[in-house]
This record gives sequence, C-alpha cells and structure tokens, in this order.
Amino acid sequence: MRFSKLAERLPAKRNRLYTEYEKAVSAGKPVVDLISTHLAEQGWVFPQERLRTILADAAPRARIYRPDPLGLPSAREAIADYYRKAGVPASAEQVLITPGTSLSYFYCFKLLASPGEEILCPRPSYPLFESIAELAGLQLRHYRLQESRGWEIDLDHLESQISTRTRALVLISPHNPTGMVAGSQSLQELAAIASRHDLPVLADEVFSEFLYDLDALPRPAATAAPLVFTLNGFSKMVGLPGLKLGWILLSGSPARVGRSLEVMELISDTLLPVNDLAQHMVSGILEGREAFAFGLRPWLLRCRQIAGDRLSQCPGVRLALPRGGFYLTLKVGEAEVDEEALCIELLRKSGVLVHPGYFYDMAPAHLVLTFALQHELLDRSLQALCVGIGEWKKRQNS
Ligand SMILES: Cc1ncc(COP(=O)(O)O)c(C=O)c1O
Repeated sequence: MRFSKLAERLPAKRNRLYTEYEKAVSAGKPVVDLISTHLAEQGWVFPQERLRTILADAAPRARIYRPDPLGLPSAREAIADYYRKAGVPASAEQVLITPGTSLSYFYCFKLLASPGEEILCPRPSYPLFESIAELAGLQLRHYRLQESRGWEIDLDHLESQISTRTRALVLISPHNPTGMVAGSQSLQELAAIASRHDLPVLADEVFSEFLYDLDALPRPAATAAPLVFTLNGFSKMVGLPGLKLGWILLSGSPARVGRSLEVMELISDTLLPVNDLAQHMVSGILEGREAFAFGLRPWLLRCRQIAGDRLSQCPGVRLALPRGGFYLTLKVGEAEVDEEALCIELLRKSGVLVHPGYFYDMAPAHLVLTFALQHELLDRSLQALCVGIGEWKKRQNS
C-alpha cells in the first residue's frame, strides 16, 4: 500500500517542546500554558442563558434541512448587517457562509490559484497557511512585517515579492502573533498595489473585536482594492470555536464578486459542510456579540497592561505592545539561538509554556505568548518567565 506524496511530506512526530510539555503535565508538574487562548477557561463565555434561547429558537427552524451552498439567507443578511453597522457597504448577496476561517482560506485558494501558483503572505505569521496551501497544491511567498516599526507591513517589500505567479495577497489585521493592526494609510497603499497588479486581497479579520488604543478597525473592504475577501467567524469574535461557523464577505468589482461566488457556491455545494442549526443561530449570536465582549474588552486591556508593565522591566527583552488580538512577541536576543531549547528550559525551570518564534517563521531570537490570562496568574507567570530568560541570558553571556 502507498500513501500520497502529501501524506509522506506531512510531519510525523511531535516536536521536542510538546514532548517535554506532555511529560511535565503527565508527571503532575504545574505548568502555566502561556500560549493557548481558551477564553472559556478564563471564565469568558457567550452569555449562557442567551445562547440557550438562541438555540431553542433555532431548533424548530432547522427541523427541515434545506441546504443552500452559499448559506442560509437570514444568516447572510445578519452578517451583511454587521458590516454595514461597521461602515462597510455590504449586502447578503456578497456573503458566503463557511465552516470556519481555515476553510474560508481553502475556498479562496482554490478559487484564485492553480497548483504551482503563489499566494503572498506576511512573515512572521500564525502557522496556518503552510498546510492549507499544501492541501491546495500552492506555493507561499512572503512579505515582511517590520519589527522596528511595530510590525508594520513593509509595502515596498510586499510589492517586490509579487511575481507573475502571484495570485493573491493575504493581510492579517489584527495580526497573530504580533498584534499589529494595519492603519488606513497602509491599507490605501496595499489597495493601490493590489490594483496595479490586479490582485485580490484576502483580509483575515478574526481578531477584529479585540483592539487596543483604536476605536475602529481599518478594513480593506472599505478601500478601492479591485477584489477583497474578508474572512471572519465566531471562533474568536464570540468565543465559540466549536460552533464551526465562519464567513467570507466579497467586495469589489460586481462582475468579479459574482463570478467568485459562482465558483465558491460550487465548491461549497460539493461538500455542503456548514452546520444548519448553527446557521439558524447566526443573527441571535451577532446580536449578543456586544454582551459577550462587554466585560472581556476591559479585562483584556488590563491583561495587556500587566504584560507591558512586567515585560518592560525584563532586562534584555524587547516587545512592541500589541494593538489587537491576544498575543505578543518578545525579542530576547540579537543572535541566532536555539529558541526551542530556551522554551524547554523555561518549561522546566520557570513552569511556563511559550512558543519559539520560529514556529511563526520569525527571525531569531523571539518568543511568542498570550496575555489573555487571569491577571494575578499572568503577572506571576510573566515574572517567572523574566527570571528564566534572565538566567538563560546570563549563561549565554558568560
Ligand atoms: C489569524 C488567524 N486566522 C484564522 C484562524 C482560524 O480561525 P477559525 O477558528 O475560524 O478556523 C486563526 C486561529 O487561531 C488565526 O489566528
């Protein structure tokens, strides 16, 4: 028996850090996970009584299954309304419902590029596209985010990376893991580049609700880019990843939006993957969005402040405070180091799990962590992290 070439290429074993982590956990050692963001575990859940009512209302409506590959019209309208309220012109006809953002990427990749062609993505970035592109048979190329400028997009570099095989530009804003939020000016320039090269923009906005020092998220869908696919869903927005509900808003030239939707409808029709009951819950959940975020936003702001205060006192460590999302990056040195060995040492000696920057394709030497943790535990864990980094640095310098 033989498996596919793809199956042969996929990594077979766990990396060293997670092997160590599992060992520590099964030995009963206390380890604070400073990387997974399960808001529910921190006490932030969508208002439960409200969710019960939404579900009870949805259940009879979902009794007879009449699937629409583009999504339930009422759900598409509720999503369009969400964008209109955010100042982005949108109609239900521009929305496609998907089973989450990862699948939204897959649909876009399949629509826009043929095997061997390229998608231009930010570097560093959450390690998501590598495998999705692999599944779609595509190549990734990267444009730089500039750490010295708060991880701003290097637009000159972005344009220089466009080749005859480039088929789409990916923007993640708020960005995971740097917390960068692209400003309006950057987006206007990105739209100009997209127009010059006649390329679509994929705008990943899954952290759109979590902004710091900003009143509103600047959105590519509000620019003059020729074709924009805005990706979002309930996994971060309302802390309901298990609902598996995402969407794509298509904007730009009506002819291209129309043709894109025809193709995506076909892709979606092939699999009919979106849970019907979840679709009947969309409008109710969107109405409850503010109730979910009400206490969470100030809590996250305080988390960010604790992280900023604690980490700015950590010698030899640099951070750019995130402007959005739940994550931050720390620069812990100038030279190439074994980041994974450092993370394993921090796990063993400081009792914290953080990620090496290389997981995110980041230049050395960085660590990545979340700041969305109970305040006291966060403060204590960051203190332990700083002590651990300090001891490691001392040994490096001796
Ligand atoms: C930037 C970014 N985009 C997309 C996703 C995946 O979203 P979903 O859970 O909707 O598939 C993640 C998950 O963490 C993410 O960080």
